[in-house]
Amino acid sequence: MSVHISAKKGEIAKVVLQPGDPLRAKYIAENFLENAKLVSQTRGIFYYTGTYKGKEISVGASGMGFPSIGIYSFELYTEYEVDTIIRIGTCGGYSSDVKLFDILNVENAASESTYAKYAWGFEEEIFSHQGNIFDIINETAEELGLKAKATNIHSSDIFYRKDPATPAIATKYNCPAVEMEAFGLFANAKHLGKNAATILTVSDIIPTQEFISADERETALKPMIELALEAALK
Ligand code: ADE
Repeated sequence: MSVHISAKKGEIAKVVLQPGDPLRAKYIAENFLENAKLVSQTRGIFYYTGTYKGKEISVGASGMGFPSIGIYSFELYTEYEVDTIIRIGTCGGYSSDVKLFDILNVENAASESTYAKYAWGFEEEIFSHQGNIFDIINETAEELGLKAKATNIHSSDIFYRKDPATPAIATKYNCPAVEMEAFGLFANAKHLGKNAATILTVSDIIPTQEFISADERETALKPMIELALEAALK
C-alpha cells in the first residue's frame, strides 16, 4: 500500500496506462484486458491489473492536474517499482492546426506551473517525454497505420480563464494544444529516472468551441487506447 493507492506490492504491473478519468480506467480494464482485477479504489481512483496479449499491464487513473498526477505517478514509480507510465488523455486545440480526433504523441510539455521547481528543483519550463517509450509509440503507430503526430503541448493549471487568447507560453514553444498533466508526469519521471509518455486525442477546439460529444468519446478514444496497449507490449 502507498498513501493513495491500496494495491499490495506486486499487484501493479511494470507498465501502467494512465487516463485521467477513473471510469475510463474501468472501461479499458473491462474491454481490453483479460482477467482484470481491481487492485485499488482509494478515493474512487480505480487501478486494475490484467493481461493484454499475455503481458501483464495495469491501468489506473491520474485524476486531473499536476497535484493529482504528481501523487499517483510518484507512488507508482517509487512504491510499486513501475518502470513506464503512458498517460492517455484528451486535449483542447488552440487553433485549426489540430483537428477533432487527431492523436498526438507528446514530444515536450511546456508549463507556467511551479510544480517541477518546488518538487524537484527543476528550473525548466518545458520537459521532454522520458526514456524510449515515445519512440516505441511512434513506431507502433506506423505499424498500426495510425497517425500519431509528434508535437509539443501546453500543460496548464487552468481550464477556465478570463482571457480567451492563446497563452504566451503556448506560442513561445509552438504548442497547438493544451491539457493539464503531462508536464507533471514528465518532471516526476525525469527526477526518478523512469519512462513516461503522453498520448492525447483532441477532444475540443477552443476558438471554434467544437467538441467530441459524450456519445462519440468511447469510439473516439479507441485508437489511442489500442496504440498505448500495443506500445506497452514492446
Ligand atoms: N483537456 C481537454 N480539453 C482541454 C482544454 N480545453 N483545456 C485543458 N485541458 C483539456
